[in-house]
Amino acid sequence: MRKLYPVRTLAVVSLLAGAMTAVPKAGAQTMRQYQLEPGTNGLELTVQEVAQPSPGANEVLVRVRAVSLNRRDVSILGRGTSAGVVPTSDGAGEVVAIGPGVAQFAVGDRVAGTFFANWPGGRLTRDAMASARGGGVDGMLAEMVVSPETGLVAIPDYLSFEEAATLPCAALTAWRALFTDGEIQPGDTVLLEGTGGVSIFGLQLAAAAGARPIITSSSDAKLERARSLGAVGTVNYRTNPEWQKTVIELTGNRGVDHVLDVVGQETLNRAVEALALGGHIAIIGGLSGRADALPLGPLPRGASVTNIFVGSREDFLAMNAFLTEHRLRPVIDRVFPFEEAPAAYAYMESNAHLGKIVITL
Ligand SMILES: NC(=O)c1ccc[n+]([C@@H]2O[C@H](COP(=O)([O-])OP(=O)(O)OC[C@H]3O[C@@H](n4cnc5c(N)ncnc54)[C@H](OP(=O)(O)O)[C@@H]3O)[C@@H](O)[C@H]2O)c1
Repeated sequence: MRKLYPVRTLAVVSLLAGAMTAVPKAGAQTMRQYQLEPGTNGLELTVQEVAQPSPGANEVLVRVRAVSLNRRDVSILGRGTSAGVVPTSDGAGEVVAIGPGVAQFAVGDRVAGTFFANWPGGRLTRDAMASARGGGVDGMLAEMVVSPETGLVAIPDYLSFEEAATLPCAALTAWRALFTDGEIQPGDTVLLEGTGGVSIFGLQLAAAAGARPIITSSSDAKLERARSLGAVGTVNYRTNPEWQKTVIELTGNRGVDHVLDVVGQETLNRAVEALALGGHIAIIGGLSGRADALPLGPLPRGASVTNIFVGSREDFLAMNAFLTEHRLRPVIDRVFPFEEAPAAYAYMESNAHLGKIVITL
């Protein structure tokens, strides 16, 4: 059933559970942003008119031009733990002001926010976890956003703002799984589940690395599109519930070298069954609910497992260099205007999309 996402427009900002936003003074420059507010079924999207922020030391003011949605943004509405927060982790725009001490960016630069405002590189830390945009801290669905300069990257020149806005979560998750943790090699086989944001980036990145992507979908039309994007094998998981057997056959009975498991409960056991000796499985998502147990018995010898949480700024910079070298263009399914953000959320929940959903500002 399609859920409705009501929008309430508030002329002035009020005190919301867990967060206080300044009420604009008379004559102050204002801007619009979405904010999550308690509603009848968890959180709902509200449009707020707030005072335009200004950058402090080592901070950058970004005029956001495009935002992309991730399944997490939809899930957060049901969780109710992010009241008062500006939603969405992913956004791109241009620098309009810099604070004292900013060294890496200048006015006019085109930038994207990193998923974690504070994960420069190395191992994931508690501080980084607490800085996940659109969850623990304010996200990007606002006309203006202030970010620490270490929470931004320059976007590749050949990409539009819409395209660049798709990178911070889905693309980086696929990158981290395949390159940082999976150490993908040309000729490897890669299993992608469904044709959502992470999986389509996984397909494109794997193909560009000279690997052989195999992808599943509930839709034959989407599988055909996936072939045009570089999939060498396709399986309809709806008409073929034992899809992992077909995946194994497609690898000449060797199994796949990489799995990006975005579905969780319904797929993890089958994905492990499809894994090759020495393969890598990236635990990523819970589209059917998070899997709560890893089947160690059937896990092939030499296999490795990582529990992915997007990636660091260091990963983002490495990915951008790869994207630029291969001139990869993100697959955008549909673009919605800022005013229709709730319709974009509903569209994601319908699963009609292939690739990414974007909101422009
Ligand atoms: N751990 C991390 O760092 C991380 C980062 C990003 C995302 N995630 C998680 O990864 C998952 C995917 O995120 P996303 O943004 O890529 O999602 P998305 O774009 O919304 O993906 C939706 C697609 O997934 C497929 N799908 C849905 N339910 C399925 C099922 N039961 N079995 C098989 N395929 C199914 C469908 O593809 P077809 O229409 O082709 O069937 C659907 O269109 C989410 O759970 C998200 O929270 C985790």
